[in-house]
Amino acid sequence: MKVTAEDVLRALKQVKDPELGVDVVQMGMIKDLKVKDGHVSFTLELTTPACPYNEELKSAVLKAVESVKGVERVSMEVKSRVLSVRPQSQALNPIPSVKNVIAVASGKGGVGKSTIAVNLAVALSEAGAATGLLDADVYGPTIPRFIRGYDFSSSVRGNKVEPARGPLGVKMMSLGLIVTDDTPVIWRGPLVGTTVRQLITDVDWGELDYLIVDLPPGTGDAPLTLAQTVPLSGVVIVTTPQKAAVTIAMKALRMFQRLNVNVIGIVENMSYVRCSDCGKTIRVFGESYARRAALEAGVPLLAEVPLLESILEGSEDGTPVIVRDPKSEAAEVFRALARRVAGRVSVIAAGGR
Ligand SMILES: Nc1ncnc2c1ncn2[C@@H]1O[C@H](COP(=O)(O)OP(=O)(O)OP(=O)(O)O)[C@@H](O)[C@H]1O
Ligand SMILES: [Mg+2]
Repeated sequence: MKVTAEDVLRALKQVKDPELGVDVVQMGMIKDLKVKDGHVSFTLELTTPACPYNEELKSAVLKAVESVKGVERVSMEVKSRVLSVRPQSQALNPIPSVKNVIAVASGKGGVGKSTIAVNLAVALSEAGAATGLLDADVYGPTIPRFIRGYDFSSSVRGNKVEPARGPLGVKMMSLGLIVTDDTPVIWRGPLVGTTVRQLITDVDWGELDYLIVDLPPGTGDAPLTLAQTVPLSGVVIVTTPQKAAVTIAMKALRMFQRLNVNVIGIVENMSYVRCSDCGKTIRVFGESYARRAALEAGVPLLAEVPLLESILEGSEDGTPVIVRDPKSEAAEVFRALARRVAGRVSVIAAGGR
């Protein structure tokens, strides 16, 4: 009996995306299916190159096709096409070439937003996603300092500014590239909002899967304008473990929720230190209030990032830890974070929560 495309599709309908619970055929992940004389060829289109379950899914799909009676040979090409999330308000037009804008925010200053934003962007880019990084901290832009030594000659083409190139191809824009460290910028509220918006719309980002936006601390004009004028796929809230920091971070979380922005999850930074002698983890700040708050808010705790010298050094000397020490624990933590974020964005884009 000759194998047909229907036979193959029937088998593939048994394979579900572990995160979405929807089968790969219904998800539209199977493209260009051809069956000829026992030879099956198709493209598997993943929803993000940084999905936590990609390997699992690839082997499940292959196994399902191989087990169909009459199949002699399988050629599977794997590609990815990042889905974009619908904007939080119908009045907002998506930015055509940018699939997902993801804000990184927190209530408190100094909890590691910029550190998380940089490393998240670098990890997404390393995974193969076209990624941009916007430093929207107009009061104290730090990202150019956190990624030194790259080509920051940004030029103007037509009426758009070309972004600079950071580590692993991350496209970057920051007010810090325009204003020097020693120039105090005195901002009035409305100007902050306009500038943040301009940094997104007047920069020629090109085709991007993810644009990570590092926000200034608090619930002031920058996050507010961003949430009201830029189509956001979601926000990542960063906090340290202590109650005081978490309480303020949750205020920022609720502000975004009130503006209908999806909360991708919470990142707990400086969660623990690892003893260099015995390898044990020590929770210097005690109990994790972030875990409890995430549970109460019904949002995932995306990562617990250790307090590590290599992360600090990464920002001090301008080489993110994935670049300077790719095999380190910190690099792995940020890769796992990137997979969680990309996975959650796919779930939200596909209509889940
Ligand atoms: N996990 C970590 N391990 C070690 N050092 C860290 C870690 N996270 C952040 N830091 C360091 O803490 C300092 C503050 O971090 P960062 O600038 O990212 O915070 P922020 O929340 O963006 O601050 P601001 O509110 O001023 O924008 C930096 O020097 C950074 O290198
Ligand atoms: Mg910062």
